[in-house]
Amino acid sequence: MKNTFTMTDNRTDTSYEFDILDGTRGPSVVDISSFYSQTGMFTYDQGYTSTASTKSAITFIDGDKGELRHRGIDIEDLVENHSYIEVCYLLLKKRLPTPEEAKGFDLELRHRSFIHERMKGLFDSFPISGHPMAIMNSAVAALTVFYGDHISIENEEEALEMAARIIAKMPTIAAFSYRHSMGIPFIYPDVNRSFTENFLYMMRAYPGGVMKIGNDGENTISPVEVKALDAIFSLHADHEQNASTTTVRNVASTNAHPYVAISSGISALWGSAHGGANEQVIKQLEMIGSVDNVDKYIAKAKDRSDPFRLMGFGHRVYKNFDPRAKILRGLQDQLKDELKLDSELMKIASKIEDIALNDEYFVSRKLYPNIDFYSGVILTALKIPTSMFTPMFVIGRTVGWIAQWLEYKEDAKAKIARPRQLYTGE
Ligand code: CMC
Repeated sequence: MKNTFTMTDNRTDTSYEFDILDGTRGPSVVDISSFYSQTGMFTYDQGYTSTASTKSAITFIDGDKGELRHRGIDIEDLVENHSYIEVCYLLLKKRLPTPEEAKGFDLELRHRSFIHERMKGLFDSFPISGHPMAIMNSAVAALTVFYGDHISIENEEEALEMAARIIAKMPTIAAFSYRHSMGIPFIYPDVNRSFTENFLYMMRAYPGGVMKIGNDGENTISPVEVKALDAIFSLHADHEQNASTTTVRNVASTNAHPYVAISSGISALWGSAHGGANEQVIKQLEMIGSVDNVDKYIAKAKDRSDPFRLMGFGHRVYKNFDPRAKILRGLQDQLKDELKLDSELMKIASKIEDIALNDEYFVSRKLYPNIDFYSGVILTALKIPTSMFTPMFVIGRTVGWIAQWLEYKEDAKAKIARPRQLYTGE
């Protein structure tokens, strides 16, 4: 049996043959790279619903089974048994670290968490009202200026150093962006704190690194909070060829600096169809305001003449459930008491969930709650302001973007991303 695919142009009764490529798991692909040279036509797939843009060995998703694996390891196992730092190591170095390697990587990230002193002026130049995503985006692009040393991809150590640097600095950039938007002084990283605890510290501490005023214990950071946020970072670490990762790879294909590729990824992530949905979910729940209004908004979401969509529902790939959402749902139940989750928001969310999971409109379109539907309630309980929800996604996803960038650069056959079009103009 030939591993090929034949297509026939019925206008001329001419057949063309293309190779079928098999991966290790998931659907095979038809290699249409010679389609134009053979047929003189392009293929058309708006939104890439049937297109594999690359080969990759980082993340595997089975959307029908609701399965997500990084380097072959199930996401549930990773979240339950490994820290975010270990997940980063796995994505970058293709295997989990030994305890000594994890410790070394953790120390490296602590040391690299500071940003250049002159970058503080960049934050100060933005209006106070600036959204933290916009500020982060610019600050990450500016890293190219402050740390723009030539990266040699042939030198693995140098490339990994560049990867560690951006992972380590992202929480600092996020916290500085937030503190600037509030008009409050920046808090430097504390190298005695772990990656995730350090982020909460930079968000919450008073000037001088003070966590408590007198005997007021309100401003401490509990291990439960650190564990919950660490799980949220791990759940966002990578998600194969989504819109922002594809953007990063496209920019990488032009040989632009990796930090600007990541800043482009941040732009793509910000939109409400992608990572920006987490902020919109909470805004939507607050707008709905009460369980009594849920039916009205469900009706609006179902009305095809109304652009209103239920934020946090639906996914291009998951047509059963989003495994990340399932884990977060469990975490939400576990933390309900410990984190004092907002009961009114949870009531509204849970009514929407109940209705949508049984309603013909949502069931027939396989629209299930996604990761963004659940992350907001937990982030709110962690006292993360709503405007910082998408930056939380950025912190978690940075490792995925950089791992995909590294993989792209290792591919000797990689070409500039340059799709064609069906011209319909004058
Ligand atoms: N509420 C109401 N209807 C919806 C929704 C929704 N959230 N999502 C999709 N639909 C309907 C849509 O109107 C269409 O209906 P019809 O077949 O009658 O025209 C059908 O479902 C298919 O939708 P689509 O837009 O063709 O699906 P897509 O795969 O292109 O889009 C999506 C996927 C995630 C952009 C979309 O479901 C959406 O806009 N969801 C809300 C935003 C959201 O939660 N985004 C976060 C995604 S998960 C985080 C991440 O990885 O980025």
